[in-house]
Amino acid sequence: MRLKLVNCEPIQVDFLTGTLAGSGVDEMKRTLGELSGVFRDNTAWSVMDPAQVVYRVQRFRPVEEGVAGGLFWGTTFVQPGLVGDEYFMTKGHFHSLRDRSEFYLTIKGEGALILMDEHRKTRFEPMRPGSLHYVPGGHAHRVANTGSVILSALACWPSDAGHDYESVTNRGFSSRLRLVNGSPRLVEEP
Ligand code: PA5
Ligand code: MN
Repeated sequence: MRLKLVNCEPIQVDFLTGTLAGSGVDEMKRTLGELSGVFRDNTAWSVMDPAQVVYRVQRFRPVEEGVAGGLFWGTTFVQPGLVGDEYFMTKGHFHSLRDRSEFYLTIKGEGALILMDEHRKTRFEPMRPGSLHYVPGGHAHRVANTGSVILSALACWPSDAGHDYESVTNRGFSSRLRLVNGSPRLVEEP
C-alpha cells in the first residue's frame, strides 16, 4: 500500500542549532501558562510570566498523523529555567500506540531525557551534544533542560505513534528532576 504523502520535499537541518527549514515544517510552542499543573511548585509557577515560552517543537510530517508506516521528524527546543527547583521541561507523554518507540539525538545544550515505564519506574539519561537516545515502546518520556543555554534535540518517531498526554496528566511521572545541592537529581514523588 502506498501512503498518501502530505509533503515530502526535502527540508534543511541546521546541525549547529537543530533548526528545521522548509515548506513542510510546522511549529508549536508551549508557554508557562499552558503548562498548568505540570510543575510541582504551584506557588512558584503562579508568580511567573504565563507568556514565557518553555519549549518549541518544529515538526516535519510527510504523511498524515496517525497513518501506519510513515515516519516523523522534529526538533524540540527547551529554554533554560526553573520553576522552583524543577527544571523547565516538556509535558511528557506515552505514545498512544504503546509499543511505538522513538529516537532522540541531542544537538545543543545539556539536559535529561526522563523515562518512565508502565510500572511507573522512572530513570533519566543525561543529554549532551551528540548523545543518541532510544525511547523504548511503553515508556513515557519528557525532556528537561539542566543547562544554561537552549537545549535542542532531534527526534524521529512512527507516524502512527500518537501522543497520550492524559495518562501523564492524571498521575504525573513517579519522580521529578530537581536541582539538589547544585546538580540534577531525580526525586521520588511523595
Ligand atoms: O514526539 C516527541 O516525543 C517529541 O517531538 C515531543 O512531542 C516534544 O518533545 C514535545 O514534548 P510533549 O509532546 O511531551 O509536549
Ligand atoms: Mn514521543
